[in-house]
Amino acid sequence: MPAKQMLIGMTFTNSYGANGGAWRWPGVDPAGLTEVDHMVRYAQMAERGKFQFLFMPDFQSMHANMETESSHLTMEPMLTLAAVARGTERIGMVATGSTTFTEPFNLARQFKMLDVMSHGRAGWNAVPTSDPAIAANYGRALPERRERYERLHETVQIVQALWGSWGQDAWLHDVASGRFADPAKVKPINLHGRHVGSAGPLALPPSEQGQPVIFQAGGGGEGAVVAGRYASGVIGAVFSIKDARHQRMALRAAAERAGRDPDEIKFFAGIISTFGADRRAALDRRIAMSRAALEQRIGYLGQMIGLPLQRSQLNEPLSAVQLAAARPSPHDPRSAYALKVAREGWTLLDVLAHGVVDYHPTIVGPPSEMADHMQEWFEAGAADGFWINPDVYEDGLPLIVDEVVPILQERGLFHRDYEGRTLREHLGARPQYGIDPRLK
Ligand SMILES: Cc1cc2nc3c(=O)[nH]c(=O)nc-3n(C[C@H](O)[C@H](O)[C@H](O)COP(=O)(O)O)c2cc1C
Repeated sequence: MPAKQMLIGMTFTNSYGANGGAWRWPGVDPAGLTEVDHMVRYAQMAERGKFQFLFMPDFQSMHANMETESSHLTMEPMLTLAAVARGTERIGMVATGSTTFTEPFNLARQFKMLDVMSHGRAGWNAVPTSDPAIAANYGRALPERRERYERLHETVQIVQALWGSWGQDAWLHDVASGRFADPAKVKPINLHGRHVGSAGPLALPPSEQGQPVIFQAGGGGEGAVVAGRYASGVIGAVFSIKDARHQRMALRAAAERAGRDPDEIKFFAGIISTFGADRRAALDRRIAMSRAALEQRIGYLGQMIGLPLQRSQLNEPLSAVQLAAARPSPHDPRSAYALKVAREGWTLLDVLAHGVVDYHPTIVGPPSEMADHMQEWFEAGAADGFWINPDVYEDGLPLIVDEVVPILQERGLFHRDYEGRTLREHLGARPQYGIDPRLK
């Protein structure tokens, strides 16, 4: 038996990268926002790196600093992935779909079509929308949390029932007998909950993996119940090995409570990368890419470490007096790391360029540091895999594919090639068609 190996997904957002300043980076097409061909090319690169999947978040509202920063997000996930499906062969594609503002029939139809046309490579990250600005785009108020989660559970079950409503062997396309399909095997579902419902059936035959794989993003008790019942993959936001292990264990316990095997849920920890030959070079790259955005975070850095910090201090390290008074904030899990970096004597701009206010741990250094980080977390049981966020796809992703991945392969931590063709196979997820019969 080969030793257990990690899985890799890549956040797939716009044609620039995870950094809001990536659009103006040398070598990047600044008008790439509307060029899906770039997305296809980056997906092909990720496939060359044998990544198991692309992960597409989705927030359907405007973002705050569009004057200088590109949106981190895609303009529309499903149509983008339809193009990507045509330009790739093996890599999985997970898109986010809101259960709060989309009807189950729409979700079932679009995701299964993506699954069929990609020959079994689609996944659905089922999220309850929590942003009132998105609700406003649908002309609605945001429903309260309890209702959002009730609707999520109803929606996932109806979607899966719709997926299963076209029997696996219903499609005959048998010229000799003249029978196209067996209508007795295509059945209505007639499911109606408190919030959503559908009569069915959905007129889409199974894909090579049967139906899309379910993902869940976000922590919290309600999120864990959702993941425990339905998810094969969970996209996490964790800052330390300790947090990550805790979340992963909570998810595994939730799967067991739902009557599933805990190994059925794969937990993915995020990583952001900014590479340079050494720490200094990587910090300089980060600063050149996003100085203004980093500088704006000085006040927040102060809150994290319990000091009133001013912009005038950006180019200085903390003074001895400040170091003695600094305390990590209990309200932000990133605070202890921020203070640790500040204690190393970096200027405050450099501290910020370490990504201490980013959403995930940030690698600021040579590619080998990323491989070491992944190995450490993986071997500590903190994650089953990672979802990686290159600062710039154009020159950041090739370094992951050509330098980080080979190190991991050399160490026996990552596969050398795809073993199967479908996302379900890539994740080691069990076969499923329709609703999971184990769910009560
Ligand atoms: C890593 C991560 C990724 C997420 N991706 C999305 C997303 O793409 N779209 C979205 O609407 N919500 C996304 N969310 C938000 C969650 O789905 C959820 O709404 C949020 O965590 C609030 O959960 P709560 O209502 O249980 O507090 C994400 C959350 C996390 C932690």
